[in-house]
Amino acid sequence: MPILEREPPKGRRESYVLPKVPVPPLKQTLDMYLNCMKHLVKEEQYQKTKAIVVKFGEPGGTGELLQKKLLERSEKTYNWVYDYWLEDMYLNQRLALPVNSNPAMVFPKQNFKDRKDSLRFAAHLITGVLEYKERIDTRVLPVDFARGQLAGTPLCMKQYYRLFNTYRLPGHKRDTLIIHKPGSTEQEHIIVACKNQFFVLDLVVNKKKLKEMDILTQLEKIVKMAENSEERQPPFGLLTSDGRTEWAQAREVLIKDSVNRESLAVIEKCLCVLCLDNPSGMEVGDTSRALLMLHGGGHEKMGANRWYDKPMQFIVGEDGVCGTVCEHSPFEGIVLVACTEYLMKFMTGSPSKMGRATSVSELPTPARLLWKTTPHIQDLLKASAERLQRLVRDLDMDVHKFEVYGKEFIKKQKMSPDAYIQVALQLAFYRCNGRLVSTYESASIRRFHEGRVDNIRSATSEALAFVKAMTDEKASLSDSEKMKQLWDAINAQTNYTITAITGLGIDNHLLGLREIAQELKMERPEIFTDETYVASNQFILSTSQVPTTVEMFCCYGPVVPNGYGCCYNPQSDHLLFSVTSFHGSTETCSAVFIKALDEGLVEMRDLCRKSNKPQSSAALAASKAVVNNQGAGSKLPSTLQKTGK
Ligand code: COA
Repeated sequence: MPILEREPPKGRRESYVLPKVPVPPLKQTLDMYLNCMKHLVKEEQYQKTKAIVVKFGEPGGTGELLQKKLLERSEKTYNWVYDYWLEDMYLNQRLALPVNSNPAMVFPKQNFKDRKDSLRFAAHLITGVLEYKERIDTRVLPVDFARGQLAGTPLCMKQYYRLFNTYRLPGHKRDTLIIHKPGSTEQEHIIVACKNQFFVLDLVVNKKKLKEMDILTQLEKIVKMAENSEERQPPFGLLTSDGRTEWAQAREVLIKDSVNRESLAVIEKCLCVLCLDNPSGMEVGDTSRALLMLHGGGHEKMGANRWYDKPMQFIVGEDGVCGTVCEHSPFEGIVLVACTEYLMKFMTGSPSKMGRATSVSELPTPARLLWKTTPHIQDLLKASAERLQRLVRDLDMDVHKFEVYGKEFIKKQKMSPDAYIQVALQLAFYRCNGRLVSTYESASIRRFHEGRVDNIRSATSEALAFVKAMTDEKASLSDSEKMKQLWDAINAQTNYTITAITGLGIDNHLLGLREIAQELKMERPEIFTDETYVASNQFILSTSQVPTTVEMFCCYGPVVPNGYGCCYNPQSDHLLFSVTSFHGSTETCSAVFIKALDEGLVEMRDLCRKSNKPQSSAALAASKAVVNNQGAGSKLPSTLQKTGK
């Protein structure tokens, strides 16, 4: 896959030491911040912001003090930004996990002959999960190496060690990410959800690990038990689909009873959740499959057959709709792709061992998790169901395959495919809204110890100039002038990417300065209460590249009510986009955005074809100047210099 290259361990396994995430120079971040926001806010507001930023950064000012404290923190910790970032990005967020936070990976549609066939698939999948987990626990996963921009450096593997042993516990103000010890014996079970019931499938019986055939036997028992309406329990999974504070409050009510406490404890320690879904009754297309992964179609469909707090949740639908929906706080989409691609390859490449293995002879019946309800708890369930339904009705999703060309065409133009797609997204947004807005593109900082992501702010001033040139009829620029602007936009985007992936992005740094001020119990500095800062964190366009090498795709929801979520998967000859927005916003429409994106991508290709020559030396020189102004490319930590791969 484009970002990662897998190497066999050969003694290099984790024997490397990754550098710490750097703390960027204060002046560089402040200059970049102004540069990023100048064209996105009104002139008057910008002047106000500029004055605030200059004051913040002046010698002996607040900025210098906070920067000093941040540098001290960086000395004392492995990763100065990790905790701040985790809390800000996930644990402090109060919105419901489905759609708003949990991404989903949609597997290829399966053609099951019947329920038993789907259970065979599920048993094989869980066997693959166990094999993968074994690799994690025994630390034999090959180290990932960066590809694409600045290829060749090893990447931090920590996120892999949080795939199966974590749980996001709801809190009144802040959630907690629970991390179990890897390989812990408490974690020898999975939870199987079927018809909104939860069952414990023990993976070790009489000290013997269950074989695939045993897992199938247990799944068959579970399906049968789920059909027994007399023993049916209320749909408690719904509570996990609610806002985090609402769920934390409900959980407090639940744990007053020991039966509920025990059921919760078993779920919270499980390795993963397997959701055996009934057919949804929806027409099976890419968009409907993505919707079923993200929110399960609400409480009337599969929305209650989930436990959204659990980071790894596999869905196997009787109608062949399969995938995963993940709690995002322990790992990034790229790690999820690596894991699920392994599983997909396992599914197709290693034959099911049903017939050959000898099974564990005495298999106890899987336990159904029991719940004690009260009228109050019934009301809580009803309220959660209604709120989930609202979210389901509100989500406007469109999965689109752009088939005119793919990343090979872009590479032939000597352009970075990722930068090109980002510029195309800016063009689409401008076409739909007549302006550009704060944009988020995730940039991996796994080149650093415990590195997660920073932000590439794709709404550059160069992108604005280009999209105006493409849409403003009065501008009537020549094709070569437009092409020059396209190059400027691509170069600015590529340079920002390099800045961000080398740990010199501005979002994490500003967050660090803000949070350290809070730790010092200082009054929040004006730079962080300013209107421009607030706007800079409203990511109306939230984007991410999640490339795959097997047929599957990732999707997620918008992060603000009037925004778009756009996950893309560049392939050689096509580009796959999953676009989401909310029907409730009058400013957005996923289908309109897709149409504008399609048109823009075709126009950009036509422009390239007409010009059809590589970047001029003048444009190259201009791009280098941008890099140097930002101070990024010239200040790469030596550990991140290309290794010549
Ligand atoms: N000319 C020709 N080819 C070029 C080129 C150019 N000017 N610039 C780049 N390419 C090639 C690259 O060598 C690479 O080739 P490969 O496919 O053979 O490896 C390919 O085009 C892709 O490179 P590019 O499009 O520039 O992107 P990238 O792979 O470097 O990715 C990011 C850029 C920002 C997406 C990546 O660094 C990143 O951070 N990914 C993680 C995103 C993430 O975390 N997503 C999940 C969030 S939950």
